[in-house]
Amino acid sequence: MLELMNRRDLLLKCAALGGLTLGPGVSIAEALEWGAPQNVERTPTAWDELGPFYKKNAPHLAQMRLASDAGLPLSVSGQVFDTRGNAIEGATLEVWQANDAGLYDLDGYRYRAALVADRAGKYAFESVMPGHYPGRVCQHVHYLVQAPGCKPLTTQLYFATDPVFAGDPQRNYTKDPLIQSAELVRPVTIGRTPGGPACAVTFEIVLERL
Ligand SMILES: [Fe+2]
Repeated sequence: MLELMNRRDLLLKCAALGGLTLGPGVSIAEALEWGAPQNVERTPTAWDELGPFYKKNAPHLAQMRLASDAGLPLSVSGQVFDTRGNAIEGATLEVWQANDAGLYDLDGYRYRAALVADRAGKYAFESVMPGHYPGRVCQHVHYLVQAPGCKPLTTQLYFATDPVFAGDPQRNYTKDPLIQSAELVRPVTIGRTPGGPACAVTFEIVLERL
């Protein structure tokens, strides 16, 4: 994310100073994507437990949140890379989480989805901030990510705003014994939408090649 922001700042500065001209119809977002550096070494995403609530055959449905659902709306997006920095088109991401009340749907597939990364390795889904539940310390979203030629990854996404971290996840992430790396605790952006407050998180996934 830091690299992306730095690159964006660089391109904006170049455009402002005349060092870069965007052709007709070309947006800064497209320029960023086209100019993305390749072969940047990346650290594999830390492993985390699969947990007991995984179910196969989740629907290919990125919109998990229904309008009537309780909870703070949550948008999650990211990209899937290999450790050489190549985006992995077609990677499959299975995600599942508790609802706002901390309950998993064990009978059906609410808050469960199977997603496919696009040409740029990007994925996104719409959900709610998961609730806490007995037996686990922190709010989290489970991931199982697979791609041909790569080691499957099970991991979990955590939220820097979780009260457990007391505002300092770098120091306090070990309060949840399942969190192996502070990198799994992601910053949260909260904003206002026509429907009320909503939050957004980015979570980049890096897979190891076999
Ligand atoms: Fe869980």
